[in-house]
Amino acid sequence: MAQLGVNIDHVATIRQARQTYEPDPVAAAALATLGGADVITIHLREDRRHIQDRDLQILRQTVPFGLNLELACEPEILDIACHARPDQATLVPERREEVTTEGGLDVVGEVERVRAAIAQLSAAQISVSLFIDPDLAQVEMAAESGAGAVELHTGAYALASGQAQEAELERLAAAGRRCVELGMTLHAGHGLNYHNVIPVARIPQMCELNIGHSIVARAVFTGLKEAVADMKRLIDNS
Ligand code: PXP
Repeated sequence: MAQLGVNIDHVATIRQARQTYEPDPVAAAALATLGGADVITIHLREDRRHIQDRDLQILRQTVPFGLNLELACEPEILDIACHARPDQATLVPERREEVTTEGGLDVVGEVERVRAAIAQLSAAQISVSLFIDPDLAQVEMAAESGAGAVELHTGAYALASGQAQEAELERLAAAGRRCVELGMTLHAGHGLNYHNVIPVARIPQMCELNIGHSIVARAVFTGLKEAVADMKRLIDNS
């Protein structure tokens, strides 16, 4: 059965919208763990649009195992990661103007850079996963570059429907099979939600699914009624 990695970046997105202290992703990680999260995932972006350095430092102390840090192959962030020592680092591509991580890492085109990042992280005893598109050439190169795991980008699957979605699922399954044949652990994520997760979770080799937006989006609605009732009560009793 695949483990669930809960990406709490968007809790920090709400906090940063007001540049304030709440909601705190540290508290979100504790609640996600109580809910059954096996892994807590955060992305420390170069532009610091959501997760901050302080979040990583505190989460390293409060999430005793299963902290997964997404990061770009950038020297500043790699140094921070090696110092903080998350349990796992997932290398992702990053562009300042993007709304979210858009495509997979181009391991074929940037193998030396990726290899150097893996060597630096591995020397700090951090296991490394590469976020790649479900493309066999990328999977082969991920294995050659020394990664222990790959996270297959499920964005194209999530955006497709009908037969096109079936075809994307088969691409994921084929890339997953190859990944395990080559001795790597299989993860997947991006765009997974309550409607599309089951077929991906059923891929036999799947070990970890990283899911963020849909969980935080649902939490807003499952918690909204109670939050309004709490405020109403305070005002009514004032
Ligand atoms: N995996 C990676 C590598 C990501 O960059 C993201 C988005 O931050 C996710 C998983 C989670 O995607 P989503 O928020 O769409 O569930």
